[in-house]
This record gives sequence, structure tokens and C-alpha cells, in this order.
Amino acid sequence: MNPLLSRLQPYPFARLRELFAGVTPEPVYRPISLGIGEPKHATPAFIKDALRNGLDALAVYPATAGELPLREAFTQWLQRRYGLALDPATQVLPVNGSREALFALAQTVVDASAQPRPIVVSPNPFYQIYEGAALLAGADPLYAPSVAERNFAVDWDSVPAEAWARTQLVYVCSPGNPTGAVMPLPEWKKLFELSDRHGFVIASDECYSEIYFRDEAPLGALEAAVRLGRKDFRNLIALTSLSKRSNVPGLRSGFVAGDAGIIKSFLLYRTYHGSAMSGTVAAASIAAWSDESHVVDNRAQYRTKFAAVTPLLEPVLDVRLPDASFYLWAGVPAAWNGDDQAFARALYAQYNVTVLPGSYLAREANGSNPGAGRIRMALVADTAECTEAAHRIVNFIQSSS
Ligand SMILES: Cc1ncc(COP(=O)(O)O)c(C=O)c1O
Repeated sequence: MNPLLSRLQPYPFARLRELFAGVTPEPVYRPISLGIGEPKHATPAFIKDALRNGLDALAVYPATAGELPLREAFTQWLQRRYGLALDPATQVLPVNGSREALFALAQTVVDASAQPRPIVVSPNPFYQIYEGAALLAGADPLYAPSVAERNFAVDWDSVPAEAWARTQLVYVCSPGNPTGAVMPLPEWKKLFELSDRHGFVIASDECYSEIYFRDEAPLGALEAAVRLGRKDFRNLIALTSLSKRSNVPGLRSGFVAGDAGIIKSFLLYRTYHGSAMSGTVAAASIAAWSDESHVVDNRAQYRTKFAAVTPLLEPVLDVRLPDASFYLWAGVPAAWNGDDQAFARALYAQYNVTVLPGSYLAREANGSNPGAGRIRMALVADTAECTEAAHRIVNFIQSSS
């Protein structure tokens, strides 16, 4: 067996199942889960139609690089969304959802033979794939905290100079899961300068970029690069996905864009790994990337929902409307002494509402776990169900304080 497999951590939902084992939730309440970040709004009919109309593509092996119309759908979207002009032939590549791409990119860019062992820097808390990707690539993960005191900006300055010297890959998650924070231009400038000095690759995970609550759409990594005069996107790859934008988590469709040299190596890796996008999925993806009205409608649904739920929770939890994403990242009341697991377990037992303990989404680093004392609530169900969950949480906190 690959010995690196033993370095993988249990997934947060496996830990949640263990936490809830043996608990029988109060039967008067029907279950409501705010645990899993799986989009639940309806998949637009035109995307399903395009998938059906693309069934003939099942008769052929798809090209790993994707056909030109697909790649042009990516670059045209990048043009409309960020005002960017990328070359469809060399600067974009289809992926089967951003998850596999986040993982595979580490396998492509990390040189495991480096001595001392390479480092992959990840925000903390973070999407657990970053850690697994680093470990299976033979690197050591290093966690940069993102805490409420700094408005959830990742503290890149916390990474020691000797660690930057060993760093080969940095994951950025903007908008962030679970914090919802968007990385501003000065932070990008800092990271690009560090990348120039130390030669690491930046992987910018942007799968929540279309769900935002401010007037201004979140800044993208490639957009930030161009604004800072970095037109070749050196050492930069942005990863995006249709899962949340278009409510198609089952389609497994996204793309990567950026540094043509990395894209070329990534294509080589993916050819051997066998991760080509089916032509049928490509047909639905072209339709989805080419339409914006369903994205506007989806965002409006989240805005209505967050506007209904956030004010209910603000009086009882340390919570506020995020910049973007579909999560509320809340501090539990002081009475719980920072025990997010006990809070989640008791809430489940008494009110049949599932939330994710924040400590499961982060790692202890320098003596503290930046997710401890917080919970993540995914507002993916409809507004009525999320509002019902919020009322139960309010009752729970008022009755347990
Ligand atoms: C931060 C983040 N990145 C990537 C993904 C993967 O999404 P997908 O593979 O559906 O594109 C998720 C899914 O929940 C996520 O939360």
C-alpha cells in the first residue's frame, strides 16, 4: 500500500457521524441539515436539456483537453465575468469538478523528491481536499490561520521565511469555505510577490465566486493578476466549477485557467490519469457557462435566504453576513466554552438540526485550532427550511443558557 494513505485525516462528515452516533434526536422535529455544503436549488431545465441533447457524444472517447467550443465557452465566460482575454488553446482546461482538479494539480506541480520535504500552504480552516492533495503528493501541509480578529483574512505573514523557501504550492480559497471571505487586491499582491521570490504555484479555488452578497462581484485571482500587470499568469492557476454556480453538483464540471506552462503539464498528467470530461457533460457545460440569467436568479435566491436567516441568528450567535459563499460561520455562545462539538451534538439531540463543528474544518497549528468554538451552517435548503432551522437554533440557545 502507498504509505502516504495513512497520513490522510478522516473527512469532517465521518467525524460528524461519529459525534452523533447513539444520539436519538427529539422526534417531534423533522430533521434539517445545515451540515453538508451541497447545492439544493433546482438544476435549470435548459442544462438538463443540453445534457439530453448531448447523449450522442457517449459513443466516442472524449479528448482530455476538451473540444474547442468547450474551451471557448470558458474563455468567453472569463471575458464577460472578469474582462479577461485568455487563449482557449493554451490557457484553459476542462476538469470533472474542482475537487479532483484541486487534488490532481498538487500531484502535477509538487516535486516530492525535493529535500527538505516540500511544503503546501493552506488556509486554516480549509476545504479538506487541499490537505489530502498535499499529503499524497509527498508534501507537508502548513496552515495559515484565518480568524475573526482579522476579519477572516488569511494571515500569510504567519508563515515563517524558512517555510516559504520550501513551499511549492499555496491554496487560496476565495470566496472562502467556511468563512465566506473574499481576498482583496493587496493580499494578492503580497502573495504574488512571495510566489516570485520562492517560485511556488498558487491554486486559487473560486467555486463560490458567483454567490455573493455585496454589490461588487468577488475579485478573481486572474483578474487580480492582470490588474497588477501579470498578464502571463506566471505560477497562477484559478479553478472554478459549475456545481454551485449552476446547481449541478452531480454534473462534475469545472475548468482551470491560467499559466500556460502549468496547463500543459496538467494536461499531460490528466491524459495519463484519464480525467477527460465526457462530451455529454461538455454539451451541458457549454450551455451553462453561456447563460448568466440563471446565475443571477440563483444569487437572488441566496440573498433572500441569507437576509431572512442572518438577522434571526445575530442576537444569539457571533455571526454576520459573509462577503460570499453559502455558509454562515458562527461563533458559539460563551456558555459553551468554545466546545463546538458539544454544541452541535446537543443541538442535534434537542432540535434535530445538523451543523458542522468548526474544529473539524481546521487543524491545530501553533497551539490553537482556528475553527474551534465555531460552527458552519450551509444555507442550501430552501428559505422556509433554513428559517425553521434558525428559529430552532434560537430556541436551543435561549433554553440552554
Ligand atoms: C472550497 C471548495 N472547493 C471545491 C469544492 C468542490 O466542488 P466541485 O468539485 O463540485 O467543483 C467544494 C465543494 O464543496 C468546496 O467547498
